[in-house]
Amino acid sequence: AEEQLLQGKRVLVTAGGTLERIDPVRYITNDSSGKMGFAIAAEARRMGAEVVLVAGNTSAGEVPGGVSLVRTGSAQQMYDEVLQQLPQTDIIIKAAAVADYRPKQTFQQKIKKTGEELVLELERTPDILQALGQRKKNGQFIVGFAAETEQLEQYAMEKLIRKNCDLLVANNVALEGAGFGTDTNIAKIFDRSGLVQELPLMTKQELASRLLRLVASRIQRSGDR
Ligand code: PMT
Repeated sequence: AEEQLLQGKRVLVTAGGTLERIDPVRYITNDSSGKMGFAIAAEARRMGAEVVLVAGNTSAGEVPGGVSLVRTGSAQQMYDEVLQQLPQTDIIIKAAAVADYRPKQTFQQKIKKTGEELVLELERTPDILQALGQRKKNGQFIVGFAAETEQLEQYAMEKLIRKNCDLLVANNVALEGAGFGTDTNIAKIFDRSGLVQELPLMTKQELASRLLRLVASRIQRSGDR
């Protein structure tokens, strides 16, 4: 039997892309399939945790069994849901690809074409991970993700510090077999003191398992103090 390393823990996982409406038939989203987040949710459940999966726009197929699913659309909706869940949550893992920008205005009617150019104005979305980092209580554990195409280590460390994460999983999404849409990933895991684990190409399920074992060992250690 799988070790119940997360027995008694409440784990919240976010997955997929957010969907930012332009008008009733158009929107902005990204290539996240939700596979990474779904794999983490499934593994956490297998390790005995109570799991809430907050999923945006996904194409990952079946929701893992035994996991409670909450569907969200926009970054704002995901923000509201995750912040509401925070007080009851021990471990948060933010694998979702949250939009950084959304249309400044959502049109109530379908935009009509004209002979002119159309300029779409965008504004910043709230940063969910940063808000969590600011509200984190003793005993809560936050894992962020970073999707990078260059200067992975530097950008990852900046995000980890700015967003007050306990661990950060950085994937170079420009590498073959890593990042968006694939069944595999290549990741480096960082904590405040730097690189903790460098993981070669492996399935998202295997990565999820390694990550959660690391989280379980870190929680164990701080609990012993
Ligand atoms: O879903 P898959 O197809 O399996 O692909 C997996 C993945 C590539 C999406 C995943 O492994 C991944 O890297 N997820 C994070 C993608 C991302 O948005 O990275 P980022 O570097 O832009 O953001 C850093 C962190 O801040 C992320 O944890 C993100 O959830 C969070 N964030 C970002 C912006 C925002 N407004 N709010 C946030 O919480």
